Amino acid sequence: MKTSTHDPLAWIDSALAELERDGLRRQLAVRSGPQTSRVILDGRELINFGSNDYLGLAADQRVTAAARAASEREGWGSGASPLVSGRGEAHAELERRLAEFEGTEAALVFPSGFAANAGVIPALVDEPDAIFGDAKNHASLIDGCRLAKAARFVYPHGDCDALEMLLRKSAGYRRRLIVTDTVFSMDGDIAPLAQLAELAEQYSAMLMVDEAHATGVFGERGCGIVEHAGLHDRVHIRVGTLSKALGSGGGFACGRQSLIDWLANRARTYVFSTAQPAATSAAALAALDIVREESHRRVQLLERSADFRRRLRADGWNVAGSESQIIPIVIGDTTRTMRLAAQLREAGFFVPGIRPPSVPDGESLLRISFCYHHTPEIVDALVKQLAAMR
Ligand SMILES: Cc1ncc(COP(=O)(O)O)c(C=O)c1O
Repeated sequence: MKTSTHDPLAWIDSALAELERDGLRRQLAVRSGPQTSRVILDGRELINFGSNDYLGLAADQRVTAAARAASEREGWGSGASPLVSGRGEAHAELERRLAEFEGTEAALVFPSGFAANAGVIPALVDEPDAIFGDAKNHASLIDGCRLAKAARFVYPHGDCDALEMLLRKSAGYRRRLIVTDTVFSMDGDIAPLAQLAELAEQYSAMLMVDEAHATGVFGERGCGIVEHAGLHDRVHIRVGTLSKALGSGGGFACGRQSLIDWLANRARTYVFSTAQPAATSAAALAALDIVREESHRRVQLLERSADFRRRLRADGWNVAGSESQIIPIVIGDTTRTMRLAAQLREAGFFVPGIRPPSVPDGESLLRISFCYHHTPEIVDALVKQLAAMR
């Protein structure tokens, strides 16, 4: 028998070496214990500005108790995809409650927010159709667009004039889909939703928004930017995650009943993936109760993050167009960004440095994720530390 010396995976070593050379190679860290205002990473305790647990619910005892009770009731694994036998009582109840929370006819729970976006978009558009996406959309929306066979158009970030130019030329397509994050995951700014809704109406387009970073945080009832902007009836498809402010895991889509029925039939990441553990749904249900009953969490979060932003701006940091609890400090150069992140870590703060491909080349940044458990003392300490590094 002939043996070959050729290693078909050898290219990976050189690709990794290239990442290393460009300062883009990432390393896996291990967290011990829960996400709170502090986090233990690789054995070192740090003040935590690197979690999306915006409302401080990921380790809330009511949430963990709900997960425990559900796993005792329904077992841990769901054992099958939702359409077979994986959709248990906790999933069904969560879908009912999410629809009620969002004020829509129905909702569908996906294994993750990523899966929701990757499944919903290709279920809505196909070859004769066109998608129009913001240049700073999250990777999961981008991949959802790639999976659809429709023509893809990217408009410059938040630029409704540019979007309109594209829509004007789109009459030849069967369907049009406009898709955007509401709160952008890296810059923390907010999409011009009212204008997008107007364009969608004018050009008979479907409007889909991803509320991943807005659910639980924005709006009178914490539903997100759609609620905040009063656009309930004008946004057709809403996607969110249970993994950030709701402190659990999984994603969801909501809208009218026929849309949800269609997605349950045609969204491949729903149909062909095992349902999330019942405990995860039960944890999200408990978190929804807390969002409803403890509005002071989101009020305090947004007030304190606005104050923090003002202080950073006053100190001369570029926080871009942030209007939310996500506060970037835009550095630009990747090496400098990662050096600053390392210095912060040395000083006891976990503030992740974000570099390509998570942001475009030349736009590396420190991403400060502001959470309910950040006390004024913790914020003072970070502001002081940053000032010392200027
Ligand atoms: C805007 C946006 N959408 C979707 C997702 C994916 O959500 P999940 O982490 O639940 O898969 C993320 C997560 O980072 C996100 O930032």
